[in-house]
Amino acid sequence: MDRTEFRRVAGHFASGVTVVTARHDGADYGITLSAMSSLSLDPPMALICVNRSVPSHDAIKASGVFVAHVLARHQKGLASQFSRPATDKFSGVECTRSAAGPLVIARTLAHFVCRVAHTVPGGTHTVFLSDVLSAETASGLEPLIYYRGGFGRLTEEADVTAPRAYVPAEHEDDLVGAGVTPAPFRLGSFYLS
Ligand SMILES: Cc1cc2nc3c(=O)[nH]c(=O)nc-3n(C[C@H](O)[C@H](O)[C@H](O)COP(=O)(O)O)c2cc1C
Repeated sequence: MDRTEFRRVAGHFASGVTVVTARHDGADYGITLSAMSSLSLDPPMALICVNRSVPSHDAIKASGVFVAHVLARHQKGLASQFSRPATDKFSGVECTRSAAGPLVIARTLAHFVCRVAHTVPGGTHTVFLSDVLSAETASGLEPLIYYRGGFGRLTEEADVTAPRAYVPAEHEDDLVGAGVTPAPFRLGSFYLS
């Protein structure tokens, strides 16, 4: 498979954007990642995929602890700031220190404090399969979306039908039982900005 074409096609998978922080040897690290996913409910686990060539990789590997922050729509600047190598990546960023060690960035949409359980090599990257020690969300914020190389937002659109089309009516009760609300929500429009 041609790499450029793979990259182009893979970009069609819309995702949120995270900044992952770590602390190692008295230094703080932060990196923008779209490759973050929840993994398991019992036990609560999440995974991140990090390029082995970046300094944050070694900090996460050596310390075994990180905080994954889900960025809100107003935090596009943070996504850019943490996607470039810099001596002081946290310049101008309001943070507190977590009990686990890494910095916690203020006013993100959500954050997960994670401890690495397993590492798996994959091409140029390492997959960190991690236990989630704690997680928090903030209310009233919208997510920042990454799609085809650009940042955007979700918007509600009254004339678009919700993805409940994928949920047969007879199974809606199963979803509610599992704590998932099948409706009402709507597919958002996506605008590159
Ligand atoms: C939107 C976006 C998503 C990214 N996702 C990833 C990712 O999932 N994994 C990764 O290793 N790098 C990803 N990067 C690249 C890193 O953020 C970049 O290499 C960064 O400079 C690494 O920080 P460091 O050099 O201080 O460790 C992404 C960059 C952007 C802008």
